[in-house]
Amino acid sequence: MEAHTSVVLGIESSCDDTAAAILIDGKVCANVVSSQLRHAEHGGVVPELASRLHQSYIARVVQQALQDAGVGFTDLTAVAYTQGPGLLGALLVGATYAKALGSALGIPAIGVDHLQGHRLSLLLAEPPASFPFLCLTVSGGHTQLDWVTDGANHETLGRTRDDAAGECFDKTAKLLGLPYPGGPVLDKLAETGTPGTHPLPHPSIEGFDFSFSGLKTALLYYLQKQPEGFVAAHLADLAASLRAVVVASLLEKLAAAIHHTGAQHVGIAGGVSANRLLRRDFMTLTEKLGVTGHLPPPAYCTDNAAMIALGGLQLLQGGMAPDPYATPFATQR
Ligand code: KG4
Ligand code: ZN
Repeated sequence: MEAHTSVVLGIESSCDDTAAAILIDGKVCANVVSSQLRHAEHGGVVPELASRLHQSYIARVVQQALQDAGVGFTDLTAVAYTQGPGLLGALLVGATYAKALGSALGIPAIGVDHLQGHRLSLLLAEPPASFPFLCLTVSGGHTQLDWVTDGANHETLGRTRDDAAGECFDKTAKLLGLPYPGGPVLDKLAETGTPGTHPLPHPSIEGFDFSFSGLKTALLYYLQKQPEGFVAAHLADLAASLRAVVVASLLEKLAAAIHHTGAQHVGIAGGVSANRLLRRDFMTLTEKLGVTGHLPPPAYCTDNAAMIALGGLQLLQGGMAPDPYATPFATQR
């Protein structure tokens, strides 16, 4: 292989995707994700099962990434892994693998914050974002607004006080009898339905914080009052009504944060940024406000290791010295 300045292996194992990616001189040359589909039969992610599946997939996923990029272990100049937040047992698999590899190869092993990884995926958007930018991170575990100043630093303006947006989609989809994870299924169904046909409350909370748990409860009570067969007969309209409320709430806060920060570059990251209505309405909003909107391609919206490799590269370029004693953290810091 010709000599490159940096060849970074990224490893992501925070939840139910075992992922590895290779970044050569900052360009994604491999992005492999093995999704643990076996959780679907349990209706949600089973932590113990996730750890075991990461353990059995990780070596193969890394091998595939190396092969796709046409590089070998000895070409690597650094390895970046998700340090947290996430499921502790799942994180330990990626962290242990990365540290062992770093130690064997004599290269730095860098712990990357999963959420910072999602935020930095905006650098992989078309057009790529440039610092500083405002990022709405919406995933199964998080919903928050951050002002991102560089590869290592951000200021959180607001976050959900209860359920995350993806969690809201997954839980309401479950109420509608849809399979896990419900977000993408509900999104697809909603495309054929009419929003606003069922009375659902618009979450109202002050400042830049979000709240979605009331929506799930409101839907539950609403459905309990309906006759048998109601959900099946109104499935698409229910999905469309729900999706519209969640998306409107997210974009309302994002618009307020754009005004507050004077941001010129704005993006959405995390699994829910794959949502069709959110993407459409986000582009309309950014055009209306005259700011540049950045949306990662779908492969970089959901959990992936390219964003982790990028996070590691940014930290190294920022002069950060890797901490060999870094330990995985399960919850947000
Ligand atoms: O970022 P991610 O892959 O994992 C976490 O860090 O949580 O996000 C997964 C979440 C799930 O809740 C899933 O239902 C949601 O993203 N999601 C969607 C869509 N695709 C994935 N939600 C709504 N619409 C979608 N198209
Ligand atoms: Zn994520």
